[in-house]
Amino acid sequence: MDNEKLIDLAAEAMENSYSPYSSFRVGAALLLKNGGVVTGCNIENSAYSPCICAERLAIFKAVSNSRKEFLKIAVVGGKNGEKADLCLPCGVCRQVMSEFCGGEFIILIRGQDGSVTEKSLQELFPLPFVFNK
Ligand code: THU
Repeated sequence: MDNEKLIDLAAEAMENSYSPYSSFRVGAALLLKNGGVVTGCNIENSAYSPCICAERLAIFKAVSNSRKEFLKIAVVGGKNGEKADLCLPCGVCRQVMSEFCGGEFIILIRGQDGSVTEKSLQELFPLPFVFNK
């Protein structure tokens, strides 16, 4: 699947964002090694701490369906759903990515001009927390 298509799927997922508190709407589309795609959107809550980010929801949905082999994630987001901001994954989502993905895992972000920026997890999160199981 090409990057543009994955970004489009993230934008589609953003339509389901439930973000009445921040009005910041995010969608994510996670490309699996088997070619499948799992999407997520941010879901907020009046108690705030139960909020979940789009990226983490996509990863957790995949893992809960026995899918743990990931290639890329596209992330689209912005205030009021305006897809203008460069929406980078938060630190918690980067830590979750590091649990299931190697440093070569790719994060695709749509920039202000519509161009797609590609970052590796190694670039965005070079020193994850780990401990020996
Ligand atoms: N959010 C995401 O969905 N992904 C991120 O990586 C950063 C933040 C959401 C959480 C919250 O609902 C809103 O954006 C504002 O922080």
